[in-house]
Amino acid sequence: MIYRVVFSSDAEKQLNKLDKSVRVQIIDYLKTRIEGSTNPRMLGNAMTGDFKGSWRYKVGKYRVICDFKDNICVVQVIKVGHRKNVYDLGGNDMRKKIIAANWKMNMTPAEAARFAGELVPLVDVPEVDVVICAPFVLFGAVWVNAEGTTVALGAQNMHYEDKGAFTGEISADMLSAVQVSHVIIGHSERRQYFNETDCTVNKKVKKALSAGIAPIMCCGESLLQREMGITIEHIRMQIKLGLLDVSAGDAAKVVIAYEPIWAIGTGVTATTAQAEEACAAIRQVLTEIYDKSTADKIRIQYGGSVTPANAAELFAQPNIDGALVGGASLSLDFAKIVEAAK
Ligand code: PGA
Repeated sequence: MIYRVVFSSDAEKQLNKLDKSVRVQIIDYLKTRIEGSTNPRMLGNAMTGDFKGSWRYKVGKYRVICDFKDNICVVQVIKVGHRKNVYDLGGNDMRKKIIAANWKMNMTPAEAARFAGELVPLVDVPEVDVVICAPFVLFGAVWVNAEGTTVALGAQNMHYEDKGAFTGEISADMLSAVQVSHVIIGHSERRQYFNETDCTVNKKVKKALSAGIAPIMCCGESLLQREMGITIEHIRMQIKLGLLDVSAGDAAKVVIAYEPIWAIGTGVTATTAQAEEACAAIRQVLTEIYDKSTADKIRIQYGGSVTPANAAELFAQPNIDGALVGGASLSLDFAKIVEAAK
């Protein structure tokens, strides 16, 4: 396959701004990839090989991204960003939609690198905040693809202590040091199988915030609680206890995920009306704890069997600001869900 190499205008700009040495490194690197070329910046250069998708290469603080499509290779040069700033992601925009992938306990690093390589270019969009919450050992596989894009890295749990004899646990500072900007706290599976309580959720929420990580704090009722008619009471209590002693300024950085337990991984989605009713009740309790302006800043996700088929209708609800996606985040369906949030 022969590809025509085209530099995006942004790449030209970046190349012009770079230190001479970095520039030379990038050009040299491209030269090794572009056969028979002495001036790889020229439009119309040929690049031979069987390339698919995109490849990424890091030079100093810059990332060179080559996207291969229809015999054209578009080259971009992007300055590598640091960890996403939770202030940017946590409510300064008028409740920008936030879609988080919860990969749970799935994939090996090789599988994750391959999948993230396909997924990230599809969800690297400015209109929606996208977070991939991966198992700890897959962070590298995600970050190598997400660094320098709009896609953020998230964890699925953390401990509330700073450090010490807590075998098997991970601290907020450890997460922060490896570019994690979000952490799921109090997922129902952790409450169900790992003794997570509203009290530990509260400690973890406060610790994450103090480390500059945005908590995605989960709440939701069981089927029994729904049948007993205590759904709203239950989630109000979870929110009050989870946010105990969290200031209004910090609360605005928290993302709340409403996940009815009976809808998680079951293929049964709450009806749009049920999801909106619960999310509106969460906003109401946030107004009571803080004030309307704080409550209006906090993003509330729905989670539980979200798919491309039901996403758009859920996102059209006034109090649903995105989704926490489990099963459908393990395929490119996730990109369709992000698309529905635009
Ligand atoms: P699900 O999981 O989309 O597979 O129902 C959601 C979640 O547990 O976060």
